[in-house]
Amino acid sequence: MSTVTTGLARGAWTSRAGFILAAAGSAIGLGNIWRFPTTAGEYGGGAFVLVYLGFVLLVGIPVLLAELSVGRATERNPVGAFKALVPGSWWPAVGALGVLTGFGILSFYSVIAGWTLGYLWLAVTGAFSGALSSEESGAIFQQLVGNPLLPTLLALAFLVLTALIVRGGISGGIERASRILMPAFFVILLILTVRAVTLPGAGKGLEFLFTPDFSEIHIQVVANALGQALFSLSLGMGAMITYGSYLQKRESLPIVGFSVALFDTLIALMGGVLIFSALAFAGAESTTSGPGLVFVALPTIFHTLPFGTGFAIAFYALLAIAALTSTISLLEVIVSYLVDQRGWARARATWGMALACAVLSIPSALSLGGSPFFTRFVGEVSFLDLMNIVWGNYSLSLGAMAICLFVGWKWGVRNALAEIQAEGNRFALAPLWSFLVRFVCPLGVAAVLAYIIFNRQYF
Ligand code: TRP
Repeated sequence: MSTVTTGLARGAWTSRAGFILAAAGSAIGLGNIWRFPTTAGEYGGGAFVLVYLGFVLLVGIPVLLAELSVGRATERNPVGAFKALVPGSWWPAVGALGVLTGFGILSFYSVIAGWTLGYLWLAVTGAFSGALSSEESGAIFQQLVGNPLLPTLLALAFLVLTALIVRGGISGGIERASRILMPAFFVILLILTVRAVTLPGAGKGLEFLFTPDFSEIHIQVVANALGQALFSLSLGMGAMITYGSYLQKRESLPIVGFSVALFDTLIALMGGVLIFSALAFAGAESTTSGPGLVFVALPTIFHTLPFGTGFAIAFYALLAIAALTSTISLLEVIVSYLVDQRGWARARATWGMALACAVLSIPSALSLGGSPFFTRFVGEVSFLDLMNIVWGNYSLSLGAMAICLFVGWKWGVRNALAEIQAEGNRFALAPLWSFLVRFVCPLGVAAVLAYIIFNRQYF
């Protein structure tokens, strides 16, 4: 098996901590701090959170283990992995859908990531040094994202940063950097969150986030919670097949899988607590919604901290880094496919795809006022929102269902368990996992998708 050409050099995760950091780096990103609070805000708060947690346990963790086992068993990219296990079948198309999905997600994700660069600049220039009302904060946001040129340039800048790292291989650079930066991100997030919950009025935000109103649970809440669980854990498109392909046989997949899922979920909940406390403090309605929610909420609390500007700078710098460890994993899937399966040179694949993605990101970058056409692309739904829903919810759901069907029925749980239990590793929950992968996950996901198609409630 020759996948030596992939950028995460084979020896990359020589330690368990190295892998957990890289996989957690992929999982933890804007999905936790931006997408989770935004989606929770739009789809009912506590009810959404509850359904989301259910999906993490019942679908997310089982699919994570399924992807890791396929990756480690084959040591290949998603397309190559299916080809290796079932040659001459149509299953590699599932891997190809994953590659396409990576492209779609990266195209809008880089726009939001670009905003974090813009906010880093605003923080450095002292825009958040004084008290800001949510209206004033909203105006700052609108000025940045409504600009017809700036968001596109920022997205491009972010893709160039991503390409520079993916091009050069991740082993020494990003993995070593993640060891310091991800813990730093966690500490800053913790301090901000503690500050936010102790601000006057914060309780209302927490109530919104943690009091489920069961009458709020309708199909869109369920579909978005499923999509968010998969998105946040980087599942459904083969990213974890790719990362798993670099893991050593002696590692316990259940242990590393649970650790990644636990970190990711904790950080999403912290992100939600931080944002909704800040919103409640600033006096904004808890139902304030849309992609700007997070960017508007946070600047209202920096001035309540000593060294507020320093905090703002550190926070946006670390958020950009968290986003970067995620965009790397998205681009890496596309690049490893082109290099391994199509024989492209790594440099050509990296720069070619980053630039193609930059072009595809333009409509998303114009989706918050830059262009009226893309701002209201389908009814009230912007182009960016559409990308987010199509790739981030539906395509990931479809991919996750396919991976479960593959592992559960085609390749077979027995083969998967042999991989998971390689070199004497134990997996006490094997029977439960088999049941979830064979029945609960595929049927659950299929039911959600079927309901949506049948009732035409796509958004
Ligand atoms: N999980 C990342 C986040 O929450 C985003 C991401 C990176 C992703 N790689 C992925 C999402 C693969 C889906 C699939 O920010």
